[in-house]
Amino acid sequence: MSKKGMIFSGVQPTGQLHLGNYLGAIKNWVKLQDTYNCIFCVVDMHAITVPQDPKALREATRQTLATYIACGINPENNIIYNQSAVSGHAELAWILGCNTPLGWLNRMTQFKEKAGEHRESAVLGLYGYPVLMAADILLYKATHVPVGEDQKQHLELARDIAGAFNRHYNKDFFPIPEPLIMGEATRVMSLNDGTKKMSKSDESDYSRIALTDSADTIRKKFMKAKSDSTMGFESLDNRPDAENLLTIYGALTDTDMKSAQAKFRTAGFGTLKKELAEVAVEKLSPITDEVNRLMKDSGHLDGILKRGAEKANAIAEKNLSAVKQLVGFLEV
Ligand code: TRP
Repeated sequence: MSKKGMIFSGVQPTGQLHLGNYLGAIKNWVKLQDTYNCIFCVVDMHAITVPQDPKALREATRQTLATYIACGINPENNIIYNQSAVSGHAELAWILGCNTPLGWLNRMTQFKEKAGEHRESAVLGLYGYPVLMAADILLYKATHVPVGEDQKQHLELARDIAGAFNRHYNKDFFPIPEPLIMGEATRVMSLNDGTKKMSKSDESDYSRIALTDSADTIRKKFMKAKSDSTMGFESLDNRPDAENLLTIYGALTDTDMKSAQAKFRTAGFGTLKKELAEVAVEKLSPITDEVNRLMKDSGHLDGILKRGAEKANAIAEKNLSAVKQLVGFLEV
């Protein structure tokens, strides 16, 4: 069967992957793998834009891969590898960086948020990160990129960079990558605060469901999740905590938000949380078990990454060589 186009996406190997990564990204990738040629990267070069412990980074890279596989991504039919194993990412990022006006980067809200008041001490890598992300995508001439809400601006920039390169070299070289915005749960919020994204870096463990949490922990976390004083789910206006829990329920059971809302219309939080915990345990336990099983054999995981990197590199080298030709690098 011929496939529709080329997909590239990635997750950073930092901390524990959580429910937000699963529902917002990886679960959707599983559905895409039959229709598109897919490259799913563990973006370790992105991870070092903030300080990482080397040993923990290696483990997190394997764990991210194990999670991809446990969630149902097939390493035989797709390309799965870690970013640093293909040197083309860094090479193309440099070339693209030479076509990216600073004014474009200055608009990136994620940098502003992350650097905060410490702009002077923020590192170049954090600032240039969106250029690396553009390189990830364009290195494979990806046509579609599944992204969550928070990465939309970076993808928009990647599109601008592709256009600028094409114009500069007067050639339709890079396809302009299209976003694939996925279903209901693209935004899973913190269980402590429905206005903040569920995040690996939140200091409270209770703010997120990790994909390695035991069934008991999952239950406990949902029971403790923040709720508000209004009982039913008739209206969700200005009730981010209630909305978040319903969104998660909807995504886990593949029902739309309206049906989820109707189901719990008059029920209290107690009822919703209990059901949510059971659904989450049922869906996540098999994944958790598989991640833990795969993590026992690092040789096997490393072998998958190595084969993935070889396949990725074959495509990357070809495209990069054409880029170097356009740019005027002498290849001897
Ligand atoms: N920046 C993305 C994130 O933090 C990860 C990422 C890196 C990515 N390169 C990418 C996502 C290319 C999509 C396409 O979530």
